[in-house]
Amino acid sequence: MPFSLPEGLSITWFGHATFLVQTPGGKRILIDPFLTHNPATPSDRKDPGPVDLILITHGHGDHCSDAVDIAKKTGASIVCMPEMGAFLGKKGLDQSKLVEANKGGPIPLPDFGVTLIMTHAIHSGGIEDGDTVVYGGEPAGYVVTLNDGGFTFYFAGDTALFSNMELISELYEPTLALLPIGGWYTMGPREAARAVRYLSTVRAVIPMHYGTFPVLTGTPDALKAELTKLGVTTEILTMTPGETIGG
Ligand code: NI
Ligand code: MN
Repeated sequence: MPFSLPEGLSITWFGHATFLVQTPGGKRILIDPFLTHNPATPSDRKDPGPVDLILITHGHGDHCSDAVDIAKKTGASIVCMPEMGAFLGKKGLDQSKLVEANKGGPIPLPDFGVTLIMTHAIHSGGIEDGDTVVYGGEPAGYVVTLNDGGFTFYFAGDTALFSNMELISELYEPTLALLPIGGWYTMGPREAARAVRYLSTVRAVIPMHYGTFPVLTGTPDALKAELTKLGVTTEILTMTPGETIGG
């Protein structure tokens, strides 16, 4: 049976690693906001509309450059590493809107209908600010569980392959994973295929972080070819920037 999202849940891709998740309870969660200068975002989709919560994986501009503007405009709260929070505070973000957290155990956010886990990610994390680079905390991924119904997905963020992705499946049993496949700065198709094998509970994968810039050469077809070599039959959900699935 093909994978389908639970009733009332929708996911919109804005290109690169920027996604908007609308929960069955109507909360709108924006992940890694990079819209204004995102070459993959269709020109008529630069505005994500109302946002309740923003999740930031790490301090690179292609994951957080629109966070402050969108938070100020929409009143959204922002979940991020404490070091990133300190930076956002200096940029004028209201302290009451900052949800600083770290990797480890559950982060229950009942006001938003979700429980988060910040996960390991093998990457770097500095925020370009004028002519300096500010440490933005450790890069992370997120496991997101809907409090209503328990649907769980894993958003890997920017990461290299690591075999402890097995633990993410063992502990949290996500059925959907959003994985970078572009290569160069993150996993490419060959590595991402192993990630899919490690994530044994995952039934469908949305590829991301590819095609945005010329060096991000990995493609969903290349991922499928690698999965075939491994004998892994997990479904690949290829989205187009601007597209929404579910709802
Ligand atoms: Ni990055
Ligand atoms: Mn990136």
